[in-house]
Amino acid sequence: MPITFLYCCDPLNPRRVDEHFAAEAREVRARGGAVVLIDHDALLQGDAQRAVARVPRGTDAAWYRGWMIPGDRYQELSEALSRRGSGLLVAPEQYRAAHELPGWYAMFAEVTPPSVWHPTAPGDVPVPEDLAALTGQLPPGAAIVKDYVKSRKHEWEEACFIPDLADFPRVRQIVQRFVDLQAEYLQGGVVLRAYESFAQPASHAAEVRVWWLDGEPRLLTPHPDSPFEQAPEPGLGHLRAAVRSLGCRFVTTDLALRTDGVWRVVEVGDGQVSDLHRAVEPAAFAEVLVGA
Ligand SMILES: Nc1ncnc2c1ncn2[C@@H]1O[C@H](COP(=O)(O)OP(=O)(O)OP(=O)(O)O)[C@@H](O)[C@H]1O
Ligand SMILES: [Mg+2]
Repeated sequence: MPITFLYCCDPLNPRRVDEHFAAEAREVRARGGAVVLIDHDALLQGDAQRAVARVPRGTDAAWYRGWMIPGDRYQELSEALSRRGSGLLVAPEQYRAAHELPGWYAMFAEVTPPSVWHPTAPGDVPVPEDLAALTGQLPPGAAIVKDYVKSRKHEWEEACFIPDLADFPRVRQIVQRFVDLQAEYLQGGVVLRAYESFAQPASHAAEVRVWWLDGEPRLLTPHPDSPFEQAPEPGLGHLRAAVRSLGCRFVTTDLALRTDGVWRVVEVGDGQVSDLHRAVEPAAFAEVLVGA
């Protein structure tokens, strides 16, 4: 039986795979994978039924490969597929566990910067008491703010980096700016993470993305934002247990070398929605996927 993959359709041409994933999907098909299209725009607009309208009834449980999906929308996708006699290989709870920091943090606490969080609705900043409770749980010094999934790393000074947790008015100002800029896209709540100093190599990627399938590291690539095509190869033995205890079949871990020489996990992600560095051959990636 071929393995089925749900790819996002091109918003302008719903019969085609979204341009961003087209080469990958072609290679998946060339290796015997079945490619089925869903409408990511419709899903995010809350119309899961329309999103799966092109999925043939009775399609086998499938991998998803595409743009990020908020946890609740992923749940709706799963339910809409079930109504068509189909489904997802990664259950909604598993997706959330890998995709959202509070889902994976406990398993990776030893190998990732100390982190605390507070659930909030989009637009809401935690009240001062709640924010103070968060800062009080972190080691003194600098921190970064993000939501359960994303940071505003491109607005580093104004909405990501917190120079000193002891400067509470400034903490509030940066968190407020972060929440304002995330607007309706804020996912889950506010996360504060102790800042750690990572190496900034001059000739290779500072962050390495490791792709794990069924608890094994299958591919090592530069982080998709890196200008470099080379990635260092950290030892991964100590991460295997953490990845396995997460209980998710397809996971990415982004690793950075702390300036004291220790490899740290910056972030965990669900491999279904992790972006690929431009230098990775779609054929090599498809081989990992279809070989699953
Ligand atoms: N605790 C930390 N200490 C120091 N730098 C950090 C820390 N957390 C994040 N960063 C820096 O900020 C960047 C963005 O953080 P992170 O990867 O968590 O957010 P993101 O928005 O989800 O990014 P992406 O999904 O594009 O990888 C990281 O690549 C890293 O350079
Ligand atoms: Mg990241």
